[in-house]
Amino acid sequence: MPPQGTSKEKTARTQYVSKQPDSKGFIPYSAEENATWRDLITRQIPMLPGRACPQWIGALNEMNFPMDRIPQLNEVSKVLREHTGWSVVPVPALIGFTEFFQLLASKRFPVATFIRSREDFDYIQEPDVFHEVFGHTPPLTDHRFAAFVEAYGKAGLAADPKDHAMLARLFWFTVEFGLVNTDEGIRAYGSGIMSSPGELVYAVESDKPERLPFDPVEALRTPYRIDILQPVYFVIDSFDDLFELAQSDLLGHIKEARRLGMHDPKFPPKAA
Ligand SMILES: [Fe+2]
Repeated sequence: MPPQGTSKEKTARTQYVSKQPDSKGFIPYSAEENATWRDLITRQIPMLPGRACPQWIGALNEMNFPMDRIPQLNEVSKVLREHTGWSVVPVPALIGFTEFFQLLASKRFPVATFIRSREDFDYIQEPDVFHEVFGHTPPLTDHRFAAFVEAYGKAGLAADPKDHAMLARLFWFTVEFGLVNTDEGIRAYGSGIMSSPGELVYAVESDKPERLPFDPVEALRTPYRIDILQPVYFVIDSFDDLFELAQSDLLGHIKEARRLGMHDPKFPPKAA
């Protein structure tokens, strides 16, 4: 997830601590932690047909995640490197914008390595390893998607820090909560949707949320909250749109969004 205004915001309280790999890059997980992964992935995979876009499901097959244990980051990186030259790196649950952008700009995806407890099985505000690895890494095998995330990181490094929160919105409405038109209808590709059974059904099937044609300036102008089902999604036509976005003037889009100003939120203010 993007850092500020989301799960990595500085005020977030977390009981979770990321696990550090040993000198060979291996992270030891307990039987209970591996069982949590098993139960999460076993629940989520049957939810995907008809809701996740075909490219995403194909990419998941490429990743070939183990069902009975949390995948090691080296295993994940090996598949990503073969496809697009990306890798994953372990980070604490909270990282700042600069580190986040630096990692993405160098084709490294930051991954918090803890897994949620059973008490948080259905919903967790922090990004855990199930969200990071299952939700985020499959589309990084697609060169168009990967090119966008790399360009996003580079734009973040070039942007004025006052525009970081605005850039976080672009990430949110694409990488985290993006929808895509397909021949069979609207389908999901965003990691926040893919790692949540409830939001997967809601995002694709509910008549409650608005589903707007993707426009980068509109995405930059649209506020979001991390702790509710999204009232607004943006829909691309294919990953080609993300590739085109990667070639476009992202800083120019920010400038235009600043000129036009923020949209009013379509959700109630968060209770204090
Ligand atoms: Fe995320």
